[in-house]
Amino acid sequence: FSAFLTDSFGRQHNYLRISLTEKCNLRCQYCMPEEGVQLTPKSELLTAQEIITLARLFVKEGVEKIRLTGGEPLIRPDVVDIVGQLYKLEGLKTIAVTTNGINLTRLLPRLKEAGLNAINVSLDTLVPAKFEFIVRRKGFHKVMEGIHKATELGYRPVKVNCVVMRGFNEDELLGFVDFTKDLPLDVRFIEYMPFDGNKWNFKKMVSYKEMLDTIKQRWPELEKLTCETSSTAKSYKVPHFQGQISFITSMSEHFCGSCNRLRITADGSLKVCLFGNSEVSLRDHLRSGASEEELVQIIGAAVGRKKKQHAEPVLMSFPLCQDALQFPANSKQW
Ligand code: GTP
Ligand code: 5AD
Ligand code: SF4
Repeated sequence: FSAFLTDSFGRQHNYLRISLTEKCNLRCQYCMPEEGVQLTPKSELLTAQEIITLARLFVKEGVEKIRLTGGEPLIRPDVVDIVGQLYKLEGLKTIAVTTNGINLTRLLPRLKEAGLNAINVSLDTLVPAKFEFIVRRKGFHKVMEGIHKATELGYRPVKVNCVVMRGFNEDELLGFVDFTKDLPLDVRFIEYMPFDGNKWNFKKMVSYKEMLDTIKQRWPELEKLTCETSSTAKSYKVPHFQGQISFITSMSEHFCGSCNRLRITADGSLKVCLFGNSEVSLRDHLRSGASEEELVQIIGAAVGRKKKQHAEPVLMSFPLCQDALQFPANSKQW
């Protein structure tokens, strides 16, 4: 594996997340303010060609999986073309997308044809009125249709991301478990994380332990599944259900030790951690004519500076300290 993508703690970064746009057609309360986020001028965003040039370089150095994120990646007009070009990169095994599902039904046939092989859809509630409250827009049925369509087109599993927030949807855990009964889904319950301005509060976070307790009371026979070491999720299954459930424990049991991810923001900056600032503008180096070797050196230097973890675990275990932690992450750079 490339020395350039290996950090000083021995973590090999074979998973690249590329944000295609900062824009979104929803306004999830925990992610974006009603007025949206300040957008970077279009001329400063990566073009499809620049994205492919960078992707080719990362794949050459050992990246095997690329996830397209946002904002909402499926509002970018050239998304199908980008997937198609990524598909041609030799060595790339997985092309995935994380989407809010609004445009999924419309685009899925073309995305599949272009080579998309994995889909994660965000859905925090199974109640249409609550959906409209949390995303501040309409579209519940479109998202549901998209999830079903993805299963019909053979995606296995279709991952459903559910951010669990006390006072909003912690009463829907069992409903989401039932959702996996007859569909090949992986419903992933995500611990709510603090971001700039999302009014995160320790009391609103429902921990993995608490969620698991609630679910085990109804389903004592819940089985634990084995997962890849770099996985963000801990998976379980109700015997005989077609799908499974998982927990993403970003807050209570972070997985920094096995992190294999790097990120490129929509404006072309490299980020080595979700909870960190941009390291370097790859766009600027590309546009000033840096050679492939120079780019690889620059990326390697940033990966070399990657910290062991995003926050002190000793602080993470105390509610008061958690409230004070401010992470400079937001929806512009998932
Ligand atoms: P897979 O590639 O299918 O495993 O998906 P994923 O979990 O990596 O990505 P997705 O875009 O579906 O994000 C789901 C959740 O994972 C997010 O809400 C975050 O809580 C968490 N997550 C994703 N990437 C990171 C990361 O780099 N660090 C941390 N701490 N959490 C992350
Ligand atoms: N905490 C946890 N997950 C979040 N997401 C967005 N904001 C937060 C937050 N504050 C989720 C989205 C999407 C994924 C990329 O991250 O719901 O599924
Ligand atoms: Fe859009 Fe995703 Fe943020 Fe919701 S979480 S506002 S769908 S980018």
